[in-house]
Amino acid sequence: MTTFLGKTDPEVQKILDLEAKRQKDGLEMIPSENYASPAVLEALGSIFTNKYAEGYPDKRYYGGNEYIDRLEKTAIERAKKLFGVPHANVQPYSGSPANFAVYFALLNPADVVMGHNLPDGGHLTHGWKVSVTGTYFKSVPYHVLPSGRIDFDEVEKLAKQHKPKLIWVGATAYPFEFEFEKFAKIADAVGAYLVADIAHVAGLVIAGAHKNPALYVDIITTTTHKTLRGPRGGMIMVTDKGLKKDPELAEKIDRAVFPGTQGGPHEHQIAALAVALKEDSSASFKKYGRQVVKNAKVLAKTLMANKLQLVGNGTENHMILMDLSKTYCPGAGYFAQYALEAAGITVNKNTVPAEPVSPFYPSGIRLGTPAITTRGMKEKEMVKIGNFIAQALKEIKPYRLPDDKNARIQFLKNFREEIYENKNLLEIKKEVEKLCKKFPVPGIK
Ligand SMILES: Cc1ncc(COP(=O)(O)O)c(C=O)c1O
Repeated sequence: MTTFLGKTDPEVQKILDLEAKRQKDGLEMIPSENYASPAVLEALGSIFTNKYAEGYPDKRYYGGNEYIDRLEKTAIERAKKLFGVPHANVQPYSGSPANFAVYFALLNPADVVMGHNLPDGGHLTHGWKVSVTGTYFKSVPYHVLPSGRIDFDEVEKLAKQHKPKLIWVGATAYPFEFEFEKFAKIADAVGAYLVADIAHVAGLVIAGAHKNPALYVDIITTTTHKTLRGPRGGMIMVTDKGLKKDPELAEKIDRAVFPGTQGGPHEHQIAALAVALKEDSSASFKKYGRQVVKNAKVLAKTLMANKLQLVGNGTENHMILMDLSKTYCPGAGYFAQYALEAAGITVNKNTVPAEPVSPFYPSGIRLGTPAITTRGMKEKEMVKIGNFIAQALKEIKPYRLPDDKNARIQFLKNFREEIYENKNLLEIKKEVEKLCKKFPVPGIK
């Protein structure tokens, strides 16, 4: 390689080349991942990284921000137009800092917050106990029914009982469309702020494949690197409904981001976000977002035809949650993640509703179609991939998680050594590589 990086730091260049090969040769099926376009990558690696710009456009603490102001205003206007909202803050470094800023804007320590329980598919920042959000605030989690869907009777009961100041709607492992209108009814009845965290489905919203929460909630937060296909980052948007409820909401959010929880914005990241938002407004992105959902549905059908059990018996979005506790054994998500990795398919182990083991050794896996759809894969490939997955999972049949916690460590070490040498999995890996060769990855030669 004759890049600057290759000359300056061959060690990092080598690692980069290896990671590029991994991303190209395998099936990236973690539902929160995607491939950013070459234009997004170029903006992300640009000289905008050199500039400090504490504050907001036309109100900066440093000089030299004429062009940075233009850049940030461009990103803001694009976000507002795409999501149909009157206010957008594009400075959050990522999804978690965006959510922390919402707490800082709306709540005092020990105020009550309600969110989707983490083992039921919720996110850490929605009040889980190990997060600052579950430590400094009184967290009242809501749960899902055995069907995997949110238990709205419980949400209503808990909201009436605990009178939360803030209710989150959004999740990280939930294969259904969010019912914003049901949450709005409950939040309005108890006077709570309603915040939609659409980190996972933002791209589906833009594509028109899922409904936009803007009509129902006060604030929307999102990551920018998942289905939106931008750089890693976060955004906070205030809706017309939010401004009607609290005319100072936009200022509260801006103050909570800077100086409340962050310092200088990452303008190179904001540049890349502006580019991604332009791409997201295209007709081809709308087609992409719809194809992501179509692909997930075909993949789900193929997996179920192979007698694999899915939470909700399918999917309404880009992700599939597979419950392996009965097909294989409780805790089998651990085995499945490594077996699939050995076959060149990247997924993540995940808890399932009423998880029988623990988040460390969960009984399910979570997989999704955003990244493989970006490569141009369609229904035909989903059938192929579904069959690869079902075939690969057969190799975990001999393994069972020991009950004894001390025995587990050695057992799992042996398992990992064996699984990476499993001949059937290595055969599938060759087939996966053959398939991947036909579908280039944007930004990787
Ligand atoms: C629903 C949801 N919110 C917030 C986040 C946090 O985003 P980040 O990892 O960028 O901090 C995630 C990430 O997985 C998520 O799924």
